[in-house]
Formats: sequence, structure tokens, C-alpha cells
Amino acid sequence: MTQQEHWKTKIGFIWAAAGSAIGLGAIWKFPYVAGTGGGGAFLLVFLLFTLFLGLPLLVGEFVIGRKAQSDAVSTYTKLAPNSKWNVIGKLGVFTSFLLLSFYSVVGGWIILYIIEVFAGGLNGLSQAEYGPLFGQVISKPFWTLLGQLLFMFITILVVSQGVQKGIEKASKIMMPALLVLFIVIVFRSLSLDGALEGVKFLLIPDFSKLTSESILFALGQAFFTLSLGVSVMVTYASYLPKTQNIPFSALSIVIINIVIALLAGLAIFPGVFSFGLEPDAGPVLIFAVLPAVFSQLPLGMFFFLAFLVLFLFAALTSAFSMIEIIVAAFTKKDNSKRKKTTWLVGILIFIVGIPSCLSYGVMADVTIFDKTFFDLFDFTVSNILMPLGALLLAIFIPLKVSKSELMDELRAGSNIRASIFNVWYYLLKYFTPVAIIIVFLDVIGVLKWFF
Ligand code: PHE
Repeated sequence: MTQQEHWKTKIGFIWAAAGSAIGLGAIWKFPYVAGTGGGGAFLLVFLLFTLFLGLPLLVGEFVIGRKAQSDAVSTYTKLAPNSKWNVIGKLGVFTSFLLLSFYSVVGGWIILYIIEVFAGGLNGLSQAEYGPLFGQVISKPFWTLLGQLLFMFITILVVSQGVQKGIEKASKIMMPALLVLFIVIVFRSLSLDGALEGVKFLLIPDFSKLTSESILFALGQAFFTLSLGVSVMVTYASYLPKTQNIPFSALSIVIINIVIALLAGLAIFPGVFSFGLEPDAGPVLIFAVLPAVFSQLPLGMFFFLAFLVLFLFAALTSAFSMIEIIVAAFTKKDNSKRKKTTWLVGILIFIVGIPSCLSYGVMADVTIFDKTFFDLFDFTVSNILMPLGALLLAIFIPLKVSKSELMDELRAGSNIRASIFNVWYYLLKYFTPVAIIIVFLDVIGVLKWFF
């Protein structure tokens, strides 16, 4: 991709950035971390973080990305020459690398499940049998590695074609289709016996269930689902023309993302309660519950298959963005190097992901700090590195780009009022860093000395 190349249409950018945002985070991860983190109270904290930290930061990443028109690392060099601030970009590239290494494992599970449905493996099972079946599928080393390899292969193929041809086109069709199918599933789930218990679990907060750790998870989740703190959105915005309305784009993406996460919750929790499963089942939750929800529908397995295909696309569009920023940073957007670099990076990611892939099978007992490789990678990326990247960004943007420059950039393509600009500016400058630091300190336990 050359500097002059841009997203084809304004809505195309929104879908591509929403495509990066919507993925395993909203669909697979949100229900299970909400399930483990206490349901309604977790949802509320997650929503607050999304609106007051996530949205301002998303706008911030868009603003500096479009301003610098560069890759994740050079953006910071351009905006703050002769400084060490490009460490934010380097950290983002490193984090995306680690992230994709276990993200592709879950992507692989979806592919395996698509094959399993085709092969008739889910036919005639009872509700209680779906969970154990899934456990069996993801414990087989050869098959899970193959699934992960296939997922990486598709990612590499699309991204080596370049941003516009690959990412934009696919996102524009798949994302709206996913939204429609989700609405169908939610209707089905809500009609199950005992569905109301699940709705209550998700929507009615019980604050006694909140812990320092679940608040950290909610923070991590807010950044994770919006692809924040790793300069992915900076890189995507670097392909934007000055006519794009940044606040509108950011708000649309946040809203679509919240809607999808809520729909995922509403699709899953009624089923969990109706079938007598546990909401804190962890990463297997969606795979254990949804087949049972679908199984009693006419053409259930066909709908489940359609869901899996769209789910796979959502995961892929996120994976594209992760590898895209690594490739863009290494090639400095020189198109002649794109193919080779994408392949090399993709293969390395696959190799680094192998221990995570085996974490549900032969390496289930290998733990560090009491966590399997998969959990350790996930925890480090989602709850430490992403909030850390977000913290650095929130410090960098107001410090290194003047208020008037930020105002000009934000107003190019939009005509937001100065008062709204100020709200954004101060939220980013003061609220975001303070909130992230408090959550970190709380988890470390420092705050407990004072209270
Ligand atoms: N937002 C993506 C999801 O929810 C994950 C992601 C994080 C993608 C960071 C890119 C960068 O699945």
C-alpha cells in the first residue's frame, strides 16, 4: 500500500474498523468474562469503561493516525521526532504479535467446528453432550494445530493482497450479515424456557460479585473489543482522507460493538440458565451453549453453520488488522515487500502460538503462575499490555500534539463544537490515565493499604 492509497468509501472504513473491533472479543470473550466476572455488574463496568475510556481513546487513535498518515511505529517518530515515544508503536506491534498467536487458536476452533458440523458430528446429541464434545475437539493436537494453521493461512492470503482489495470488501458484506443472524439467534434464545433468568443475570447488576480482578478484566475487555492500545486503529486511520468524519465513525464503531456484545450475551445466557449450565464455564461457553440453542430450531444445524461462518469472518477481520499493523510497520508501507513480510510474520505467529494451541490438550498441565500458556498469553495481552498501551497513548496524545492541532484534525471532515472537543480532550488527558492507573494499583493491592 502506498501513501496515496486510501479506503475506497467512508462507510468502507467504518466497516473495516468495526471489523477489526468486532471479533472474538465481543462474541466469544465477552459472554465468558461477563459470566465469570459476575454478569450485570461486569456489564455495567464494561460499558462505563467503553464509553468514558474506550471511545475517547478510539477518537485519539484515529486523530493521530490520520494526522501522521504513517505506520504504527513511524507515526510516533513523526509526531515526536527524536524521542523515545515510538515505543508505543513497538509495544503495539509486539502485543499484536502475541495476541494473534492465541487468537488464531480460537479461530482454528471455529474452523474445526465448521468441519464437525459438516461431518455430522453434532447430529442427534443431547444438550448435555455439546460441551464435552467441544472439549474433545479442542484437545486433539493434530486437528487444533491444523485449524490454527488454516486460520493463519487465510489471514496471510488476504492481507498479502493489500488493505483495500481484501479487508474492505469482505467486511462490508460479512459484518451486516452477522448482525442480522445474531438478532435471529437472540429471538430464539429468548423463547427458551427459563430464558428470563439469563436476561436477569446479564442485565441486573449484583455489585457484591465485583472484584479488583473482574474490574481489571472489564477494563481489558473494553480495550480488547475496540482494538485499542496497540496502534491498530492508528494504522487503519492512516489510510483515511481528511473528509472522513472521525467522531461519527468512532461513535458508530463503539455502538455497533456494544450492540454485538449485548446480542452475544442475550444469545448465550438464556441458554446457559435454561439448560442448567454454569455461566463461568470459560472459553468453551459459546461453543457449548449455542449448538444446544440451535438444535431445537427447524434447520438448526444449517443456521448454526451459517453462524459459525460469520463468526469466523468476524474473527478473521480482526486478525487481518493485527497482522496488518505488523506488516505495515516492517515494510513502512512499501508494497513490494508486503507479500514476503506477511508470510514470514504469519508463520512466526503460528509457531509462537503452538503452546497456546496445545493448552487444551497435551499441554493442559503445563502452567506458569498457575495459568496455561493460552491463559497466560491472553491475560498478559488483554489485561496488562493493552491497558498499558492505552495509558501511554493517553499520555502521549495531549503531551506531544498541541491542542489546536488536535482540534484542527478532529474538525477536518466533521463540524463538532468546541465544547465537545473539550470534553473529549479532558477525558483523554486526565480521566483515562488516572482511571487506568487506579485499576492497575487496585489489582496490585496498593490501594488497599490506604483504604
Ligand atoms: N477487537 C478484536 C476483537 O474483539 C481484537 C483485537 C484487539 C483486534 C487488538 C486488533 C487489535 O476480537
